[in-house]
Amino acid sequence: MADITRDTASQSNPFDVATEHASFIWTVDFELQVIRGSVTHKLTVKKDSVKEVIFDTWDLEIFRIEVNGSNGKYDIKPKKAVVGSALHIFLPSNLKQDDKVTVKIDYSTTGGCTALQWLDKRQTQGKEHPYLFSQCQPTYARALAPLQDTPANKIKYSAAVTSILPVLLSARRVSPPADGPPHNGKAVGKEAVVYKYDQPVPIPTYLIAIASGNMRYKLFSKPEGKSWTSGVWAEPELIEKAFWEFSEDTTRFLSAEEEIIIDYQFGVYDLLVLPPSFPYGGMENACISFLTPSLLTGDRTLVDVVVHELTHSWFGNGVTHANPSHFWLNEGWTTYIERVLQERLHSPAERGFAYVIGSKALYDDLERYCDQPKFQRLVISFQNEEDPDDAYSSVPYEKGANFILHLEQTLGGLDVFLPYVKDYVKTFLGQSITTAQWKDHLYSYWSQHGGPEKVAALDTVDWEGWLYGEGTHLPVKMTYDLSLAEKAYHLAERWHNAAKDGSSAPDFKPSDIQDFNSNQIVVFLEKLHGYKSLDSPLILHLGKIYHIAETQNAEIRLRFYILAFLDPLAPAAKALLIPAIQWLIGEDNTGVIKGRMKFCRPVFRAAARVNRKAVLEAWNQNKGLFHPIAQKLIDKDLEAQVV
Ligand code: BES
Ligand code: ZN
Repeated sequence: MADITRDTASQSNPFDVATEHASFIWTVDFELQVIRGSVTHKLTVKKDSVKEVIFDTWDLEIFRIEVNGSNGKYDIKPKKAVVGSALHIFLPSNLKQDDKVTVKIDYSTTGGCTALQWLDKRQTQGKEHPYLFSQCQPTYARALAPLQDTPANKIKYSAAVTSILPVLLSARRVSPPADGPPHNGKAVGKEAVVYKYDQPVPIPTYLIAIASGNMRYKLFSKPEGKSWTSGVWAEPELIEKAFWEFSEDTTRFLSAEEEIIIDYQFGVYDLLVLPPSFPYGGMENACISFLTPSLLTGDRTLVDVVVHELTHSWFGNGVTHANPSHFWLNEGWTTYIERVLQERLHSPAERGFAYVIGSKALYDDLERYCDQPKFQRLVISFQNEEDPDDAYSSVPYEKGANFILHLEQTLGGLDVFLPYVKDYVKTFLGQSITTAQWKDHLYSYWSQHGGPEKVAALDTVDWEGWLYGEGTHLPVKMTYDLSLAEKAYHLAERWHNAAKDGSSAPDFKPSDIQDFNSNQIVVFLEKLHGYKSLDSPLILHLGKIYHIAETQNAEIRLRFYILAFLDPLAPAAKALLIPAIQWLIGEDNTGVIKGRMKFCRPVFRAAARVNRKAVLEAWNQNKGLFHPIAQKLIDKDLEAQVV
């Protein structure tokens, strides 16, 4: 049954008995490609007479279980889609509320553990050592360890991880020191080192993360008087480039966010630049955001992804959505605040521009979900065993951010709104909440601090429309600062006019875009998507004269291929099919696969409409290079397209 107060993606029982602390002892085995070891849960009883603790697992091999130090009885249920196999462990009888129980599980991951990608050395930058990394959000932490894998429960954790390559976890390094000699002075790739970590702040399980590979650290310099540290990790070949790309903005934005919200609470804020198969732009793992290497454009144009991830430190990692139905609280709030920071540190025009870019993604996704209208909603009710990854789209981000922006405007603008935001974070920091709790607090804050007039303003909001509305439009027509979009629109209009006139030798020059930043090129191309007017010669001409067809910037290349594939029967679509496939699989001038799902999923989908057979062939030959999560979702995408 669909129920938005319950986590339908977990079979665990944290409301009966909950993990408070997990201690992981792991060995990373690059040869067998498994993590082996144990997890020890310190549990607190929440209800008298609870009989069992239920953990989520996915393709884990369980060896032995101890309950309070003695051999424990357990039952592993058959595996179900999405949720996995529930691990029931029987507890001592007569437990009372607040009693403590310790459960130790010896286990190993297996080849089916979707949370982990094991790369062989050819898939890394250095080509000398293998690499391992995890991605646990939304439901894959259970494929790394038996856990109550729901964001409703927050846990502290500590870990001792043995590996022949440096290890990073989403926690504070205890030993060896991060800025000491690499791999504690031992032979990288040969000798084992034990890495110890501690996460003293309770976090949802989807923020547990591990990476192990040949990597180096470079510390950012930080503003005076800060108690946190911040730096970047990458393979040695990329560390200087990564440092250059992010060192200016990371600590600046982190400090700015502390000003408007509250102090950063995790002690360390590091970045890790991963190999190209990393399936997201960024992932806000506690203490360390994981990033796609495609952000390294050499011009700092894609640092907004870092700003987004660091903003999650408050919105998501601090105040957490209680279950997948309320995912928008994480992403909508983060997107909204990320853009407030852009306004503060850059200009109001930047904030508007970000909404302009976002609204194209939003409308594309709303269209795409026309036959699954419930995914057009902000608050989604999931059926049992329904995959939250099927609902992943820009809707929670963009509808969410627009909703908060609309509230800001309804309540009197940013200056009066920000004190409320601060109060929201302070009220719920450390907790996991639902949309109803958020809304209750919103009303209570404004009735206390704004009085009847603000409450009346809140009453004018179309709550039903924003939270549960379907369809391809927002309940309110939003207006944004268009000043940065204008020249992109203007150039797009010129191309559109040339298309209408049917002029064969249009008067366009490379210099048309010489003072465009890469986001303006993105907006230019997206405007052309909307016009749908360019014929094949014009598309090919455009790709050539603006050097867009070969650009290293994946954001731009994505929009170019989408433009070319709008009419799957057109000669331009046919001409660009092979280049697009080569770009996806890294057999072009970029040399790396486009593992970020924002790039590969839409291009595979669009290309399959041009030539399904060729795309399936290329996909089946190369999918082993992609992350298990991307494999799962692209398989589904291509299957769904059979019609
Ligand atoms: N937390 C998300 C990534 C995520 C969401 C992973 C749901 C798995 C399930 C991360 O913060 C994110 O939003 N990444 C975006 C960044 C962008 C919006 C700036 C991405 O990867 O595109
Ligand atoms: Zn996010």
